[in-house]
Amino acid sequence: MTQKTLEAIKYKRGDLQVLDQLRLPFETVYEAVPNTVQGHHVIKTMKVRGAPAIAIVAALSLAVELNALLTTSPTTLDTNDKVATFVNEKLEYLKTSRPTAVNLFEASERLSNLVRDNGDKSGPELASIVITEAEEMLIKDVQDNKNIGKFGCEFILANANSDSVRVLTHCNTGSLATAGWGTALGIVRDLNLSGKLDHCYCTETRPYNQGSRLTAYELVYENIPSTLICDSMASALLKLKNVKAIIVGADRVAANGDTANKIGTYQLAITAAYHNVMFIVAAPLTTIDMKTLSGDAIVIEERAGVEVTSTKGRTATVEVAAPGIGVWNPAFDVVPASLITAIVTNKGVITKNKGEDFFRIDEFIKNN
Ligand code: MRU
Repeated sequence: MTQKTLEAIKYKRGDLQVLDQLRLPFETVYEAVPNTVQGHHVIKTMKVRGAPAIAIVAALSLAVELNALLTTSPTTLDTNDKVATFVNEKLEYLKTSRPTAVNLFEASERLSNLVRDNGDKSGPELASIVITEAEEMLIKDVQDNKNIGKFGCEFILANANSDSVRVLTHCNTGSLATAGWGTALGIVRDLNLSGKLDHCYCTETRPYNQGSRLTAYELVYENIPSTLICDSMASALLKLKNVKAIIVGADRVAANGDTANKIGTYQLAITAAYHNVMFIVAAPLTTIDMKTLSGDAIVIEERAGVEVTSTKGRTATVEVAAPGIGVWNPAFDVVPASLITAIVTNKGVITKNKGEDFFRIDEFIKNN
């Protein structure tokens, strides 16, 4: 019997529930998200996180709010103008929840353009178009991830020079970070299904521990051969354990391929280059931000120091630092394109031209 995959987002028209990831891996509790205020809250507090999941929950929170208003307060949405103003205001608000992952901004722009392009529809018709588009994002993300998994698995096996591979992944990029299957972790799943995965190592991913709490949970849940390491063990692992590839997700890929991802990704890319290990970024095209020319322009979210000075256990949050110490807590860092072997997308694998240290993503998009 095949096991059901984990679901971060449960949706049917009018009802959005998200898995509270702050309570994982110890408790499985879904929380209702009936409107954009709650959508903003679950994203900001990281009950739901991961670039694609953030965008989908934002869009679906708007969809459920519109759906409810259509029956409870139809006069608020009875003209095209009212719906357009309502949708655009809510999107502006949702965008203030977290700054780095571009998927939220891409989804917002898409919905806003949809509203602009449907100025001839009635209010209820326009609301229903927005609802349907948000629902399609949920379906499309799973298919995109399946494609990423397949392309990434093929690329790694073709370049690994061995029959089975050991890989390392960072943060959480699986079913919990997406609508399902996952990006980097989707590739790990495909490697495992192909029978060619010898082992998957995952980092703890301090300070928030998305690796030890969430990725480790997914790996155990799926019976994938796996081992947890502290972030500080990565270089020793590459030196001693014959790892063939580091596979990570992305929160924003700039036009030249520079990639923002969970803090700690940059040092993994440096150690991968030193040890001649493939460094693979896995992301749907919606994570590529062609308006941002290089990684220097990416806004990096800084979070509260308490996430560094304490750690959350099964029953309590415990302090792990000397009281009074200053803290710097950037949530993401940027890997220069020069350190990235390939960017695996839902449309195929982007590699660099020989002798170049950046990706020609514009050409890839034009041709695919
Ligand atoms: O702060 P988070 O947990 O939202 O950060 C998540 C990551 O950095 C992921 O690696 C990235 O969003 C890709 S998820 C498919």
